[in-house]
Amino acid sequence: MLAKYITTPIFYVNDKPHIGHAYTVILADVLSRWFKINNYDVFFLTGTDEHGNKIEKTAREKGMDPKDFVDQISGLFKSAFAKLDIQYSRFIRTTDKDHEENVKRILKYLYDKGDIYKGTYEGYYCLPDESYFTESEIIDGKCPVCGRPVQKISEEAYFFRLSKYKDQIINFLNSNSIIPDFRVKEQLNRLKNGLFDLDISRKTVKWGIELPFDNSHTTYVWFDALLNYLTAINFDLNKYWPADLQIIGKEILWFHSVIWIGILSALNLPPPKKILAHGFWLVNGQKMSKSLGNVIDPVLWVEKYGSDAVRYALISEKPAHDDGDISEEKLISKINSDLADELGNLVYRVLSLSLKSNKVFEGDDLLSKELDLEGIKNDFENYDAFSALHKIMDFVRKCNKFVSDKRIWELEGKEFDSAIYSLLNSIKSIGILIYPFMPNTGIKIIKMLGYDESYINVKNLAFGPIGPVKYREILFSKVEKK
Ligand code: MSP
Repeated sequence: MLAKYITTPIFYVNDKPHIGHAYTVILADVLSRWFKINNYDVFFLTGTDEHGNKIEKTAREKGMDPKDFVDQISGLFKSAFAKLDIQYSRFIRTTDKDHEENVKRILKYLYDKGDIYKGTYEGYYCLPDESYFTESEIIDGKCPVCGRPVQKISEEAYFFRLSKYKDQIINFLNSNSIIPDFRVKEQLNRLKNGLFDLDISRKTVKWGIELPFDNSHTTYVWFDALLNYLTAINFDLNKYWPADLQIIGKEILWFHSVIWIGILSALNLPPPKKILAHGFWLVNGQKMSKSLGNVIDPVLWVEKYGSDAVRYALISEKPAHDDGDISEEKLISKINSDLADELGNLVYRVLSLSLKSNKVFEGDDLLSKELDLEGIKNDFENYDAFSALHKIMDFVRKCNKFVSDKRIWELEGKEFDSAIYSLLNSIKSIGILIYPFMPNTGIKIIKMLGYDESYINVKNLAFGPIGPVKYREILFSKVEKK
């Protein structure tokens, strides 16, 4: 069995998950499920990033012990992911024992190899972003990423010889491995300012993994966090590394396409095959923030509209690499038009007609040519879930058009049989193809047609005798707009 290793970033646990986090993990789940129904042995990793100053500070502000606090918030991520039907292979936490041991083992190896050395760190630190900047990077005394004030600091620290791996990093950036490719330039431009060794320890932070060779320091949270991708597959590195796809948000591409590649090179490991950097979700054109009170809680939407609808809305709204706007109105209009009027209606109409005769349908294939299966497969190979979903929904629309144009309810005999044969097979294909996006809907469709869940596999897409249909149900009801 061919292996596929797909990862998401691990999420900071300073607050409960919002719709942006949900998107990253839904996208990874959609792609993972596609490869699973293509008979790949998929290892899908997600989890939480739990160390560092910021988290310790938030915990203290809440009067909590950091460990109790991270347990609580990590639990919220886990339960949100369960509600969103995220079928991960492991939910890693950076406070997991095996991860802490792995980080120490790797630090020791790099220290013994001479790739980690002691020095003095001088620079600027942005607490909310856990990021360090040089004098030339900060803008008017503010963080270049979030615009908040930075603190000047000078302290003893250990450094990782990132600069030693510049060639490997540049090779990676030029190797066609980053989706979308226009982001490569941004990283190469940033590299022109020089590539400095990375300080990877803190004396002042207590909530972190101690350095194995100096327990007065803890490991810088990003160094600790990136290694999660290796901890999770330590049991079979040969099988799963290099990762096939690492999904991240665009703001953390530097960490993944430069620092991470440097660390991997120092460990004599190849870089990931692909990194997909997705864009940001905005609300009415604005960044989500607590102070604006516009943060969308995915769990509330799932409770109101179901996880399939939320998954569908996010993936169909924009190509992954773009920024986009999301709102409850948009979600509702997608439920009403795409899911109720198009998909739900197609399934209900055709299955109702089929149920009139309790038989196996055979006949001429009048519809499979309308399905761009090669295009869909190709989109998935390129990790373009948005485009694949639109091709599937185009097919749904074509099937509905076929029903109305042919007035199939008026057909009889062989003509009726061929129409129903074609439509039931099309619906079967739609059930299988839609499953990665909307697992519950995919399963419902397949069951109505008389198969069980294990039938959901790309090898079963071919048209053939089909029926009798078991039952029919309404997949999506319209939601009234307030
Ligand atoms: N902990 C680091 C990642 C370490 S990976 C070794 C981190 N965590 S995060 O919680 O801040 O972000 C996790 C992911 O959520 C990122 O990919 C980020 O891009 C994504 N999103 C956070 N807000 C988002 C939006 N508003 N829209 C889309 N995704 C966004 O960074």
